[in-house]
Amino acid sequence: MPSTKIRKAVIPAAGLGTRFLPATKAIPKEMIPIVDVPMIQHIVEEAVRAGIEDVVLITARHKESIENHFDYNYELEDSLEKKQKNDLAEVSKKIGKMCNLISVRQKNPMGLGHAVLCAAPVIGNEPFAVLLGDDLIDSKVPCTRQLAEIYEKEGASVVGVMEVPQAETSKYGIVGGNMLNPKLMHVDRLVEKPSPDQAPSRWAIPGRYVLSPKIFDCLRETKPGKGGEIQLTDALQLLAQREKLLAYAFEGTRYDTGDRLGFIDATLAFALRRPELASGVRDIMKKHLNGVV
Ligand code: UTP
Repeated sequence: MPSTKIRKAVIPAAGLGTRFLPATKAIPKEMIPIVDVPMIQHIVEEAVRAGIEDVVLITARHKESIENHFDYNYELEDSLEKKQKNDLAEVSKKIGKMCNLISVRQKNPMGLGHAVLCAAPVIGNEPFAVLLGDDLIDSKVPCTRQLAEIYEKEGASVVGVMEVPQAETSKYGIVGGNMLNPKLMHVDRLVEKPSPDQAPSRWAIPGRYVLSPKIFDCLRETKPGKGGEIQLTDALQLLAQREKLLAYAFEGTRYDTGDRLGFIDATLAFALRRPELASGVRDIMKKHLNGVV
């Protein structure tokens, strides 16, 4: 039986980021910062805090800056050290040391399911986490660790879910099944973006998973679905027919940073908790809300 310890994570970051044009014309969406930390760094930090050792980044043409971000920048670090700015040099070096990053190209953006399948040769026959590159989850215990604990205890794949208003089910993959306890469901069906009257529940999958390697066979058998893309949700439906699949209502606040309003929400929330910025940001917000400008 394969080990149940979750050591590897896949971060799909090969999408086109069309909701964020024109910003994403020449820079990857994942490199847009929340205050001063690129979105993707927040995601990698969650994986590392969850105990992940190897991060498999699914990338694409014109996304080299993501790989560079997690490497050393010798020129910058050396120049900062010569100017006695050792703390800033350390900020840069620390990112380079954060994890073992393995990048795999998805040559065509054929969907999230296809992106995950690109990681199969690197993952091999062990369970792994998936974290979407534009979903930020702020929580005391990293969301990926919460899911890994369920996998390690139950020996079953698990998707992280959050409750959404009925009117919003058409924005997400939605799960249905039997409740095992108020936070855990045994999933028997998943529907990609159902209209509110077709949704099996209000439990939506924002972008965190811990999956058995059997998902790769399911992905290989999955035909293009909604939008002509190979959907991870469709492969999970197949997995649920073959193995136990759970949904866990994780603790934490989720921000859809690939959406403009979600991005602004995350920026304000993260800026307000930075002691050196909080009062300045409050003043700026008051000024705008009072219509002074
Ligand atoms: P999204 O649909 O949110 O991202 O996919 P997108 O395609 O980049 O953005 P929009 O919708 O055009 O604005 C969810 C995640 O899956 C990745 C994306 O990079 C994102 O992190 N993805 C999506 C891939 O890696 N490959 C794909 O073919 C599609």
